[in-house]
Amino acid sequence: MSVGIDEISFYTPNYYLDLRTLAEVQQTESEKYYQGIGQEKMSMPAPDEDIVTMAANAAQPLVERVGSGAISTLLFATETGIDQSKAAGIYVHRLLGLNANCRVVELKQACYSATAAIQMACALVTRQPDKQVMVIASDVARYDLDTAGEATQGAGAVAMLISANPRLIEIAPEVGNHTEDVMDFWRPNYRNTALVDGKYSTKVYLKSLKKAWENFVEASSLAFSDFSHFCYHLPFSRMAEKAHKHLAKLNKCGLNPDQLEQQIEDTLYYNRLIGNSYTASMYIGLSSLLENCKQNLAGKRIGFFSYGSGCVAEFFAGTVVVGYEHCLHTLVHKNMLETRQSVSYDEYLSLYRYPDPRDGEHHDIPQGTTGRFRLAAISGHKREYVIC
Ligand code: CAA
Repeated sequence: MSVGIDEISFYTPNYYLDLRTLAEVQQTESEKYYQGIGQEKMSMPAPDEDIVTMAANAAQPLVERVGSGAISTLLFATETGIDQSKAAGIYVHRLLGLNANCRVVELKQACYSATAAIQMACALVTRQPDKQVMVIASDVARYDLDTAGEATQGAGAVAMLISANPRLIEIAPEVGNHTEDVMDFWRPNYRNTALVDGKYSTKVYLKSLKKAWENFVEASSLAFSDFSHFCYHLPFSRMAEKAHKHLAKLNKCGLNPDQLEQQIEDTLYYNRLIGNSYTASMYIGLSSLLENCKQNLAGKRIGFFSYGSGCVAEFFAGTVVVGYEHCLHTLVHKNMLETRQSVSYDEYLSLYRYPDPRDGEHHDIPQGTTGRFRLAAISGHKREYVIC
């Protein structure tokens, strides 16, 4: 019996800032962003959107297909948690009408935790193959204004159904891990924005790739040449290019630059337009590959490198299932990206600075999202979500 990803759907807010607009205000060349970091736009949540509403929007198409009673566990991965105690997935559980017998828990380890959730989901499904587990990764990437990280913000959520005999990706059990206590990127509980040692974080990312890969080849009989494509964690798309060159060099693979680019380029389209979505970003990259690659990927092996600052990294392998192209949400995703609304720099600042009420009074939140779910109010320190 194989286990893996049966279906995948993502959501990103309907507002975005074009990085040309940011470059103009900062008096920086826009090519620094478009080429240097490989990002064009970054999604900005409306005031009535957060990790819960994005997650529910991403997951709804999957629940509509399998039925709300089919999901036995909901694993919610995020590093922009809205509560120190209550799992964000419990709000999603209600919004999607999931069964009261479905367990829900939230996982945290920077951008890595969706991968931990997937491995845990695979283990649960292996024990009970008639069950399906929903993994949701949802994040708002936010840095201080006028910092180097500002251009690498973004927001999005991805939902995946993990099942036996999956229709999209069979996940192999062998993995390579690397964990190390480092301070490359972190967000203390009292801050809304992340702190980051930017250049250092890119170095730790590459070091962790090497270490996780070395651990992977000890556990698996696979070599670099057994993979046709690679999905990397995508804080910004140039990071994947740097990572892939690094891994190719380590393996003395003999491929030329064009061949190396072909192994990753289709994974990058959506993230260039969404920005960083932390836990969700590698899996939005997987959607991008499956939905944009002209070649039929059936039977091809994909290498996944998941990285979460702090840091935990994991390399694992998945094989694309025959007929996968019939199980995608390509049109919905492309339509969502094409119909977003561009914001001016001032509008971006108002979204960025929208108050985060903490006084316990009743605060109605104005409608901004075009999604199906919204945060309607915060009252008595409670978040009130509604279905539009
Ligand atoms: N035309 C083309 N390219 C240009 C250019 C121009 N006009 N101007 C500059 N560039 C290039 C630079 O040469 C550089 O390329 P190389 O990396 O190949 O040298 C690139 O654009 C970026 O320029 P800088 O190095 O000057 O960029 P910066 O110092 O302003 O910031 C950054 C880059 C450190 C990544 C910053 O965006 C940042 O701190 N981001 C947040 C942290 C991050 O994403 N880290 C990634 C690893 S950690 C992780 O993965 C977890 C996570 O999700 C955060």
